[in-house]
This record gives sequence, structure tokens and C-alpha cells, in this order.
Amino acid sequence: MSVVSTEEIRGHFPALQRTHAGYPVGYFDGPGGTQVPTEVIEAFTDYLLRHNANTEWKYPSSIETDQLLKEARVTFADFLKCSEREIVFGNNMTTLTFHLSRTLGKLWGPGDEIIVTQLDHQANQAPWRSLEEECGVTVHIVPMLAENGKLDWDTLTELFTQRTRLLAIGGASNALGTVNDLDEAARLCRSFGAYFFVDAVHMASHMLMDVVKTDCDFLACSSYKFYGPHVGILYIRENVGESLMPPRLPCAKDYLPESFETGTLNHEGIVGAAVAVDFLAGLSKSDGSRRERLELVFPTLYARSHRLLECLWDGLQEQRGVQLYGPGPGEERTPTIGFTVRGMDSSTVAERLANDSGLFLSHGDFYASGVTAALGLGQQGLVRAGCACYTNDDEVERLIKGVAALCS
Ligand SMILES: Cc1ncc(COP(=O)(O)O)c(C=O)c1O
Repeated sequence: MSVVSTEEIRGHFPALQRTHAGYPVGYFDGPGGTQVPTEVIEAFTDYLLRHNANTEWKYPSSIETDQLLKEARVTFADFLKCSEREIVFGNNMTTLTFHLSRTLGKLWGPGDEIIVTQLDHQANQAPWRSLEEECGVTVHIVPMLAENGKLDWDTLTELFTQRTRLLAIGGASNALGTVNDLDEAARLCRSFGAYFFVDAVHMASHMLMDVVKTDCDFLACSSYKFYGPHVGILYIRENVGESLMPPRLPCAKDYLPESFETGTLNHEGIVGAAVAVDFLAGLSKSDGSRRERLELVFPTLYARSHRLLECLWDGLQEQRGVQLYGPGPGEERTPTIGFTVRGMDSSTVAERLANDSGLFLSHGDFYASGVTAALGLGQQGLVRAGCACYTNDDEVERLIKGVAALCS
């Protein structure tokens, strides 16, 4: 085995020591935010204890801060396979996307068109929809097909015209685990000369991103979904970023990537986020560059979590009254399952699983309200079970049993 075992991985996560209702907690809430390994916690506190300063002054802790931020950019350049000049840090994906949409909106007006999708999180809709009011662009929404949780690709293709300026699409759905065909999305954007924005917040936890292969102009992700602190990362293709004029303070830097960053950054979070990437690379037992090790680790974690997903899917499907949504386990998808239990509110299911079985699951629409609307689910939405790198067979079995107990 060239990647350390799940049991070894679990040893890095102190949160797994927590118990609830007499059980060790099973964290199935990774799509909402994963737990954090000791290495990240230590880097975070070490920064605040020993290096805390603002940037670009001549005293040691400031010089160390500059160096740590520089190293973090290099780490994320490896993570997304780009140059460090293309890595922008910010609060979270939502804030970064609003900032980008505002920047791009300066270029557009009535007659320009943007395509977003119903499958997406609101953070990849609202920033683009705000331009309808702000600059008069038209925003088209690609519907999601309720029967399989996928996008209606025929409509998506038909919506492209010479007036399309941008496609904003998710890599994967945080509600259903659906993985979108980014190759086809890139092909459409290139043929129509449109910008290509990828929301990789859910996808980046499960599949190693490669912005060159994806051929996108922008890609956003959030470190708290892949074992880091709450920090957002935005990739901007260098030649595109150079041509844009983000809103900024008069004295702020006017070159990439800092031109897109506003105010003082979350230094401790960025340092921790970079250590989260190193933690993932470090799960490889082989030598090699950070990127090479990530390329080995991600497919192995994907295969492991896919096996858990199959087990969970089959186990839940056998329960009377459980309805599963989205693509089945035979397809390329993330290990995130959305389901409902007949006759029971999703909030009650989540509460009972926590208090009867020590299993932490999220419920509702997860801000993917287009998905729950397309599924006709109303306010209560779905219960969501997401596997992470620390999820094991025992937890999956406990979850199946916990749901079975609710159905009996
Ligand atoms: C798919 C997806 N996109 C965007 C977001 C928003 O990310 P952030 O919290 O970093 O703004 C989330 C958060 O759950 C998400 O799952």
C-alpha cells in the first residue's frame, strides 16, 4: 500500500477522540467542513505564538510572515498545478467570488450573458446574479434533472451564444455528489470565447484539481473542506488576471496575485491551509515532489471512499422509507449521499442520529437550494452523509444501523 492506512490517518485527527451519547463521534459532515489534523492545529498555533505580525516590515516576525505566506502560495500552486502568481487568498469562496464578479462586471453590460446552474451552491449563483442588477447582464440558469441529479447538458449547450461571457459551474455538487463534465464545459467556453469559472469547493476535497487540464480561467476552493482552517483560495489564470482591475485601496499592490487580495489576510489560516495540503501529500509513503505525492494520494483516497460510498448506498437503499438522490455509486461522483426518511423531517433524522448513535450529519439544503427545489423537497431538504479520509467501515456500518433503527 503506497498510501498510509485509514487507521493511521485517523490517528492524526484529535476530534475523533470525542464521544457523544456514549459513542465515538462519527463525522459525516465533511461536505460542510472536515476535521483538522494535529499538524494543521500546531502550525496554526505556532504562527500565532511565534511569528504573528503584519507583512513587509524589517523585524523578524514580519519577515517570517512574508516567508510563510510565500511558501503557502507555492504549496497551493502545487495543489492546483499553477504558478504562485495565480493563487489569491481570501476569507472564503463566497467572498472571493463576489469580489471577482464585481471585477468582471466592470467589463459587461446589457446584451452580455452569463450561465450558472441549478445544481450549484448559491455562492456560485448569487455573485453572478448580482450583476443582473448592477450592470444589466442576462443570467441563464441550467436546470438540474431530478431523476439523476445531473445537469441538463442539452440546455447548457443550447444556452451558449456569441454573447456568453462566462460559465460558472461547480466541479461537484455539495448536496448530491454529482461530478460535472468539466472537459465539456471547457470545450464550450473555448468555442464561444467565454470565461470559465469552476467552483471546486466540494470537488477539491475528493479529486486533485489541475487547472491546466481543466483549462479554466478561475477556480475557487476552501481549505476547511480539505482538513484546513477557514480560508478561501482563488486561482486566476495569469494573463486573465493581469487584464482585470479589481476594486482595491489606492496604496495596495496593483500586480498579481496581491491585486486581488483585500486588506490583511488570515495569516494563521493560510499557514494552516498550506500544512493541510502537506498533510495530504504526506499520506503518500513514496518520495517525490509534493505534486507527485498528491497525485498518488488522491486517487487512493477516492477509491477508498468510493468503496465506503457503495456500502453506504446499498445499506441505506435496503431500508424501507429511505429515498436516495443523485447519481448511483457506479458513476464518477464524490462520496456524498443526500437522502430522506419517509415520514420524518431531515432535522429530526440528523438529531436522532447524533443523539442515538453519535453520528454527526448535516441536513437542509446546504445552500444548494436549487437542488432541493428540483427534487421537490421543500424546506426540510435532505440529510447528507459525506465520507472523508478518516471515515472507516465501522462508522459506515453504524450509520446504516442508525438509519435502520429510525425506519423500523
Ligand atoms: C460547492 C460549494 N460551493 C461554495 C461553497 C461556499 O464556500 P465558502 O464557505 O468557502 O464561501 C460551499 C460551502 O459549503 C460549497 O459546498
